[in-house]
Amino acid sequence: MVKKQQFKFQWNSTQRSEYVQKMFSEISGTYDLINDLFTFGMHKKWKRKLAQSFINHNDIVVDIGCGTGDFSFACMEQKPQHVIGIDFSSEMIQEATKKNTVESQKCIKFVIGDAVNLPIRSSSVDICSLSFVIRNIPNIQDMLSEVHRILKPGGKLVILEVFKPPSKGINFIVSFYINFFVLFLGRVISKHKDGYVYLNYSINTFMNIDELGTQLQQEKFIIIQKKMVMLASVGTLVVQKGD
Ligand SMILES: C[S@@+](CC[C@H](N)C(=O)[O-])C[C@H]1O[C@@H](n2cnc3c(N)ncnc32)[C@H](O)[C@@H]1O
Repeated sequence: MVKKQQFKFQWNSTQRSEYVQKMFSEISGTYDLINDLFTFGMHKKWKRKLAQSFINHNDIVVDIGCGTGDFSFACMEQKPQHVIGIDFSSEMIQEATKKNTVESQKCIKFVIGDAVNLPIRSSSVDICSLSFVIRNIPNIQDMLSEVHRILKPGGKLVILEVFKPPSKGINFIVSFYINFFVLFLGRVISKHKDGYVYLNYSINTFMNIDELGTQLQQEKFIIIQKKMVMLASVGTLVVQKGD
């Protein structure tokens, strides 16, 4: 078990995964509301735009760390063959399932599973997505090799993530926003003591978009798109499976 605030210091991969799973389960009921408030509803636009740009008719999509399912539903609008939303928090999967109507169930299935051990056949998927997930995964290399395994040759991995902005001035503004506004409102709404402290920790200790791009290249992916929005604090990285 992870002790309170221990994440501010050092923890091992298992402790971190346990904390992340428990914390997201505990905030699952208020996750959508807080996301809408903190991004001024922008996260839905980013997700829809990404889906419009990279999901094709008849694609098979795996949305890893799908949470309450927003990216899965954005993908569905592009009429893929099917979307499988996977998350290791059963509470998040429950929230996503509540939104899955009789009609959308024809396209989307939500299942409980771990990003480092995906219940998917090798070379069977056109698109994998990680929307605000990769920063939470301690063993990125293992997860990327799973993604590489399940993608078809030429398949794509679409990443949407919060990054520490490269400019010190903008980083100061963004940190201020997260440390005060997001932390305060996150605590009040979710009633979770440290979930939103962890958010700040996870952003500050994560690599920048260029470093992530380099790691993806090392794991046999080819970069197709690298883009920053929202004062360079949110980035999209789209890569293709190489040999
Ligand atoms: C910040 S939420 C993002 C949810 C959703 N993708 C979105 O864009 O709103 C991160 C999600 O990733 C899930 N997650 C983190 N690590 C995971 C892992 N190793 N396997 C599966 N899901 C994971 C969490 O449970 C949580 O639901």
